[in-house]
Amino acid sequence: MTGLPDNRDSFGSRFGVIAATAGSAIGLGNIWRFPYVAGENGGGAFLLIYLGFIVLIGIPVMLSEFTIGRSAQRNVFGSFRKLAPGKPWYLIGLMGVAAAFMILAFYTAVAGWTLEYIFQSVINGFKGQDAQELNSMYFSFIGSGFRPLLWFFVFMVLTAVIIMAGVQKGIEKYTKILMPLLLVLLLALVIRSVTLPGAGSGLAFLFKPDFSKITTSTILEALGQAFFSLSIGMGTLITYGSYIQKSDNLGSTAVSVAFADTFIAILAGMAIFPAVFAFNIEPDAGAGLVYITLPNIFQQMPGGYFFSLMFFILLGVAALTSTISVLEVIVAFFVEELKLKRKAATLLATGSVSVLGILCVLSFSSMSDFKLFGFTVFDLMDFTSANILLPLGGFFIVIFVAWFLGREKAAGELSNRGRLRTGYMPFFMFIIKFLAPLAIAFIFLQGVGLIKLT
Ligand code: TRP
Repeated sequence: MTGLPDNRDSFGSRFGVIAATAGSAIGLGNIWRFPYVAGENGGGAFLLIYLGFIVLIGIPVMLSEFTIGRSAQRNVFGSFRKLAPGKPWYLIGLMGVAAAFMILAFYTAVAGWTLEYIFQSVINGFKGQDAQELNSMYFSFIGSGFRPLLWFFVFMVLTAVIIMAGVQKGIEKYTKILMPLLLVLLLALVIRSVTLPGAGSGLAFLFKPDFSKITTSTILEALGQAFFSLSIGMGTLITYGSYIQKSDNLGSTAVSVAFADTFIAILAGMAIFPAVFAFNIEPDAGAGLVYITLPNIFQQMPGGYFFSLMFFILLGVAALTSTISVLEVIVAFFVEELKLKRKAATLLATGSVSVLGILCVLSFSSMSDFKLFGFTVFDLMDFTSANILLPLGGFFIVIFVAWFLGREKAAGELSNRGRLRTGYMPFFMFIIKFLAPLAIAFIFLQGVGLIKLT
């Protein structure tokens, strides 16, 4: 007997676990956000610091989430309640569910934009437009109210349909197809981009570290980006971890997923910067890099029609495998705690997220003047989740494993009850006891403005 509730779904294969988890990690964070954050923070130097954080902090936090989820075999709230009965640790689980609502609401709004851009690519809508016109095209689209709402709902429904089908027959089945597709599309784009005349300076920008660009804020950006990109701090990986079979190796899974996530972010940089430099455009266009700068490049480049279509499909696929992972956090919670059927739980979760999502979408149009604490609803969801809830969640997750569960239980889970060698334990324990909580506390305090370093 494994002690599992009989009807609990799980991932069926090792590749399925990696596809689903890497699918969660790889998303708008890698393809939309990483290139522009790297672009604004000096390229190569940022990349080096980012890599350091992935290895030193990201992987240990990910392993902590897997440990919690797989030992408890529950949703994020139920996991803490089961491992720490009668103690207030379940509040971290509730915070995770709240963060899932917020992230899903604003993330799906941006994910919906990819559908508009796929549509525009199909009808060749970028053709003949100059940079100024593409800029106003983007702002008038997101400010138009109806179309972004429509695409938001389409994206929500796509997400819900996959989730409704279950863990193995939904999440695993689709991510096993979508992730290889994403890799193929991205490789094709990289090849196109690096073979453009003048591409070399883009590669130099991405890979040649210029340490004069490094400031405290670069370092904090890098840590925040590592958290968001790896999907850590919210219980997504606690939930997915609870579906990983007892015979799988959690350590090597975490390393593979972190590697895949980083590799895709770097490939995204290699698809974007050589093209940006080949067409003499500034690399620090910020959030508009993908939606304004790239269409401008596509319509000037040979084969641009297809590459544009490919790129926005790629972006949509990456976003979809991430939105399903966030919706699953809420659905697993509803199924196990409210005892709902999966279908009813999905409908309830999708419906309630949509209410918040509508407010996020309209934050760029009719509700742009509606401010709470000086933020539009979209910015409030983005800020509260990424800068407050994720770091807080990550902080308490490592503290929980390091100081509450303790070394012995963690080692038992990570070694599959002594069947695997876990020579990394001393190093892992040191990081989650001291280094990770300190580093996270640091970004958190800086993020909310409680400490201020230059
Ligand atoms: N990691 C995803 C991305 O890079 C987004 C994401 C999915 C996420 N699940 C998450 C971020 C949980 C934080 C927490 O696009």
